[in-house]
Amino acid sequence: MRAVICRAWGAVDDLTLEHVPAPIPGPKQLLIDVKATGVNYADSIMVAGRYQTRPPFPFSPGLETAGIVAARGEGASRYEPGDRVMAILPYGGMAERALADEVETFAIPDGMPFDIAGAFPVAYVSSHVAIRWQGRLEPGETLLVLGAAGGVGLAAVEIGKAMGARVIAGASTPEKLERAREHGADALVNYATESLTERVMALTNGKGADVCFDPVGGPLFDAALSSLGWGGRILIIGFVGGIPSIPANRLLVKHRSALGSALRYFRWHAPDKLRRSVEELIAWYGAGKLAPYISHRLPLSRSIEAIRLLTDRTAAGKVVVMPELAGD
Ligand SMILES: NC(=O)c1ccc[n+]([C@@H]2O[C@H](COP(=O)([O-])OP(=O)(O)OC[C@H]3O[C@@H](n4cnc5c(N)ncnc54)[C@H](OP(=O)(O)O)[C@@H]3O)[C@@H](O)[C@H]2O)c1
Repeated sequence: MRAVICRAWGAVDDLTLEHVPAPIPGPKQLLIDVKATGVNYADSIMVAGRYQTRPPFPFSPGLETAGIVAARGEGASRYEPGDRVMAILPYGGMAERALADEVETFAIPDGMPFDIAGAFPVAYVSSHVAIRWQGRLEPGETLLVLGAAGGVGLAAVEIGKAMGARVIAGASTPEKLERAREHGADALVNYATESLTERVMALTNGKGADVCFDPVGGPLFDAALSSLGWGGRILIIGFVGGIPSIPANRLLVKHRSALGSALRYFRWHAPDKLRRSVEELIAWYGAGKLAPYISHRLPLSRSIEAIRLLTDRTAAGKVVVMPELAGD
């Protein structure tokens, strides 16, 4: 099979497209014929050797996928060969065939095409578990989303609306803000040109946001913290802008909380909550409350370009690589 291969920690540009043997499913694993693999910012971090996990060389990046079950390992019984599935992967999605643990594999709902399914698990499940279980967002509360046109960000906007919140979307360009508005954002803030804190305070009559979903971090984190009202919760999702420090006094004075949320926690330590999140997301998708957006669909041979769309900050919503797309 063809696969995008990483043989040493380094630049995304050093990835190679190679012919390698297909992997063999181990106990409770599935072999999936890949139709679409969602690209994540974390792919670039993993290839650089800076991700929380470091797979053994050689490996393929790709943290989620959608396709058809081709084979089952010993003891895997939830799905049959031929079933349409989507999965959260430890790595390996940028290939024609990928291994998934059965417990992190979900049936693709009727009517959901493969490209959407390949882009669904990481963005939507990560955002949902963060907002539902860590943020404890309530209907009528205000959710501020940073990086609101990105993979997890745009999903967070839709999830906030589905939970009955008022959503303020923050992004760096008018085009990205317009994308967030199309996906349900009630109010917008361009944090590249205006003060995040002042704008959020103005939009909330001086009260501040109840929950902030922050996949950006860096210098924006401080402004986001100041944008929270009494009892506000900031969800620490990622650090594309750098790792911030938290001034503890700013938590105390307004009874705020800073909460980390890692999809891996739910995968490894709270699988029941993860499954409940998936069920709620699939129900919302069926009810038309979610409209996953894909800005780019690229063939497997253009996977480097696909990852660079994220690191160059030019993607919106999700980017997917599709091995059967013309051009491969
Ligand atoms: N905790 C979890 O469970 C979890 C799960 C998935 C992802 N994440 C993390 O969330 C972050 C976002 O992941 P993603 O896959 O959604 O990425 P993405 O699609 O590339 O979105 C990131 C967004 O961040 C903004 N941004 C600000 N500074 C940036 C910079 N220097 N480089 C790139 N983007 C920048 C961009 O929007 P603007 O241009 O509008 O600022 C962009 O839309 C990553 O750190 C990832 O590791 C965490």
